[in-house]
Amino acid sequence: DEKKLKQFFIGSIDQGTTSTRFIIFNGTGEPVAQHQIEFNQIYAHSGWHEHDPQEIVDSVEQCIEQATQAFIDRGHKVDEIKAIGITNQRETTVVWDSNTGEPLYNAIAWPDTRTKGLVRDFKEREGADDVLNICGLPLSTYPSSLKLVWLIEHVDAVKQAYEEGRLSFGTIDSWLLFHLNGKLEKNVHVTDASNASRTMFMDLNTVQYSDKLLSFFGIDRNKVKLPKIVPSSCPDSFGSMAAGILKGIKIAGCLGDQSAALVGQQGFTPGSAKNTYGTGCFLLYNVGEKPVISKHGLLATVAYDFGRSRKPVYALEGSIAVAGSGVKFLMNNLGFITHSHKISELASSVKDNGGCVFVTAFSGLFAPYWIDDAKGTIFGITQFTERGHIARATLEATCFQTKAILDAMELDSGHKLTELAVDGGMSNSNLCMQTQANIIGIPVDRPAMRETTALGAAIAAGFAVDIWKEFDELKEINQKDRMVFEPNITKEESETMFKKWGRAVEMCRGWLS
Ligand code: G3P
Repeated sequence: DEKKLKQFFIGSIDQGTTSTRFIIFNGTGEPVAQHQIEFNQIYAHSGWHEHDPQEIVDSVEQCIEQATQAFIDRGHKVDEIKAIGITNQRETTVVWDSNTGEPLYNAIAWPDTRTKGLVRDFKEREGADDVLNICGLPLSTYPSSLKLVWLIEHVDAVKQAYEEGRLSFGTIDSWLLFHLNGKLEKNVHVTDASNASRTMFMDLNTVQYSDKLLSFFGIDRNKVKLPKIVPSSCPDSFGSMAAGILKGIKIAGCLGDQSAALVGQQGFTPGSAKNTYGTGCFLLYNVGEKPVISKHGLLATVAYDFGRSRKPVYALEGSIAVAGSGVKFLMNNLGFITHSHKISELASSVKDNGGCVFVTAFSGLFAPYWIDDAKGTIFGITQFTERGHIARATLEATCFQTKAILDAMELDSGHKLTELAVDGGMSNSNLCMQTQANIIGIPVDRPAMRETTALGAAIAAGFAVDIWKEFDELKEINQKDRMVFEPNITKEESETMFKKWGRAVEMCRGWLS
């Protein structure tokens, strides 16, 4: 019952693209203590985007210490925390020396476009046409595969480790699990099915590595250690905390952050969907126990795999590379605002976009367009243009791409969504969410507690240690005080706006880099 559930706690590590959080939830899904740290984004060249893998681990450890201390200060005991879940930015690629455990290069972050040339090259190779059907992802700079190929080709230390068979590969989940388990001491090297489905090395149907894909990318399995793929919720595969304030506590859940948000929003039935406006923006649509390969530019991915007798559940995904990072760009690069949350105020200082359309293609354009060579471009600037117009156009860019993704999803699934559940930082902006509802013409439904990503990882961990046994037991969680944004412009007005966006996207193609 509720009173009992309030006495169980689960810690959730949410390692995102720009910040790390640790949140402790009780069994009714309420956050009781948390800590967040932003870490460095390394942009060494145009299109490059890296993270320091050690800084990421440090940020996780610090968040755990601080949030747990706050938990204790509130009168709780560490042993009330029954398990830990991990959720993380996906695709970001880490390589380390299997003998020393030391990273061999910075992590190449998912929006990095240095592999553009490799994408062109691999698209011409024999077997390129089969890739989408095996792993659900189109060849692009986004997944991990070509990041690993690039590292082996361009970084001597990585090449050497590969030739000598001491190269370990992982996405951020694997890197964190390796560290939190005490590195070489236990040498835990695993990943969950949702994260593995973003590498481009995994067969969606078998949920195991595909020899065909590995050989297409020229990756020799004897020379690189790949993490073992396990279900997202399991009591025995992810090990336990080797040190620190939570030493000995079991890690029992692991999900890519977009999968975690779907779980946190309780998108458990086929046909349910969510859109998370984080650094990027990602719409996941639950398609059930069989993958659906998109014909319209979406990705097929593992949504989650809760193991035991349950089958993996798949999703169609629309990935947008730039959402919150567009707001950060206005703040850090152009000095438009002093804090991200001020974006709404600036965008509200004008009544519309004043004719501006901002295609925020900082990493090319992702779904459903997949234009690798597009660059960020603002159209429609005149002497009339103010910062407010550009702020508005920045928010609208994510809303337009969401509309394009929903259109593609409708074509792929034959089903029209009647409402869109949202979360993530940019969903805090009422203006942005109203704009979103106007552009897609259906209500947008926002929960009061928007840490749904962290909640999803806590749910995965909680299932593994039997805090909950059936999805039905979660149905009360985070349902209070949701806010619904109803469309308030006409269909014609919204179509006119979207048409302009479509034209701007076409004009972005083929920019010479
Ligand atoms: O695929 C990248 C995604 O996992 C990153 O999520 O929330 O850091 O934008 P976020």
